[in-house]
Amino acid sequence: MHIYGEYKNELEKTLDHLMATIKAFRKEEKARGNSVYEHLSARIKDEESMREKLRRKGLPMRPEAALFDVRDAIGIRVICHFIDDVYRMRDMLTEKMGLTLVEEKDYIKNVKPNGYRSLHLIYAVPREKKEGERLGEGEENFYAEVQIRTIAMDTWASLEHEMMYKHIVKNRELLTTELKRCADELAAAELSMQTIRRLIASSSAD
Ligand code: GTP
Ligand code: MG
Repeated sequence: MHIYGEYKNELEKTLDHLMATIKAFRKEEKARGNSVYEHLSARIKDEESMREKLRRKGLPMRPEAALFDVRDAIGIRVICHFIDDVYRMRDMLTEKMGLTLVEEKDYIKNVKPNGYRSLHLIYAVPREKKEGERLGEGEENFYAEVQIRTIAMDTWASLEHEMMYKHIVKNRELLTTELKRCADELAAAELSMQTIRRLIASSSAD
């Protein structure tokens, strides 16, 4: 049986609905002259990764554990231009989607030791009940993990993932130190560029 069992369709529909809501919101804001994000991607955690995660967490190999205990079966990644936009995006998502934010991990304020930066949010997404249907306790919501980060943070995460996870590397320690240095340099460059953007915004307002 598929790890999401009979919930698979409902799960995919939930993700489609979330994506449509975010895209509609972007369109609305664009019409007002506001840029909200640069690009967006999404995935349902694939069978193999979900099984691996259930194993790692000592959870039963069942759809209910995959959906209601693990909370990143639905994953959305929002890439913004600058850090200011990341937090604006979080506030907009929380307000506009009317979802409950159940967890926030801020790896921008609390940078991971390897240099990883990103804002991770977990939202509870209420499930639609069919007529007469009763949802079991603890099964009222699906969960979606939304990762929001800047283009620079995403560039780093993507390269780091490519190098550290996909390849068995020698000299891991040296690579880790070098990658951390790159992460910090990218963060510094990004701050300078954000300052430039602010200067442009204030000079064009004159
Ligand atoms: P889980 O229990 O597996 O969710 O671990 P966690 O809660 O400690 O991790 P978290 O949810 O904060 O981050 C999980 C996701 O963030 C991963 O699937 C990656 O997409 C991303 N991520 C976290 N740390 C790193 C990192 O060091 N490098 C990269 N490239 N991605 C990371
Ligand atoms: Mg997690």
